[in-house]
Amino acid sequence: MRRKLAAGNWKMNGRLADLDQLDRIMAACPAPAADLLLCLPATLIHPAAARVADHALRIGAQDCHQAGAGAHTGDIAAGQLMDAGASAVILGHSERRADHQEDSATVRAKAEAAQAAGLIGVICLGETLAERDAGHTLEVIGAQLDASVPDSATGAVTVIAYEPVWAIGTGRIATTEQIAEVHGFLRARLIARFGAATGGAIRLLYGGSVKPDNAAQIFAVTDVDGALVGGASLTADDFCPIIAALEAS
Ligand code: 13P
Repeated sequence: MRRKLAAGNWKMNGRLADLDQLDRIMAACPAPAADLLLCLPATLIHPAAARVADHALRIGAQDCHQAGAGAHTGDIAAGQLMDAGASAVILGHSERRADHQEDSATVRAKAEAAQAAGLIGVICLGETLAERDAGHTLEVIGAQLDASVPDSATGAVTVIAYEPVWAIGTGRIATTEQIAEVHGFLRARLIARFGAATGGAIRLLYGGSVKPDNAAQIFAVTDVDGALVGGASLTADDFCPIIAALEAS
């Protein structure tokens, strides 16, 4: 009932010349059996959206401001991302929580702004290694979920990405048992808050060192509806096998 989603996050990588990777992804997946989303640097959103217009591949952003407009130098409003051709935005990525001191209340306000502008919000959660080692993973994830996800969340406009901070960019992947525990916990908590229909419809992505050689084992885990892929989304050579593994799951 939940359509699978392969999402990429290019982070602060990519120039106009790299958009040929989108052509290669589209050519490799003419009729994808999963939703495909690439969240690009803001500078690339408009040309990328034009490039994918005739394909199912969608373009997203990596952050938005919570206000609709105003005196916020350097920030971008959700409506401006929509205007540029984005259909989704990553919110509360751990790199933004760390680099820009974003707390969950801010992430929630951004998710509300994204939804009001018509964007899908991909809300990120994840524990640090110190929090996991101290046995606090579910407590931390539960608190982030409760405070970051707006009451207006729905399966159509809200995606949750579980990205353990210690697995991002490290090549260190959570075990399938660890992923199953957190995703099962997230599903139960969403259903408790939003009811079976909405709580059961919100997609749960895993993120953190997802690569072609480990994707299939991750996608076999119950309640993993796809992935949020960093480094391995930068090239079609790496991203296409991950898409194929998701389609086959
Ligand atoms: P990596 O896949 O490079 O570990 O990054 C994961 C991530 O942070 C996606 O948002």
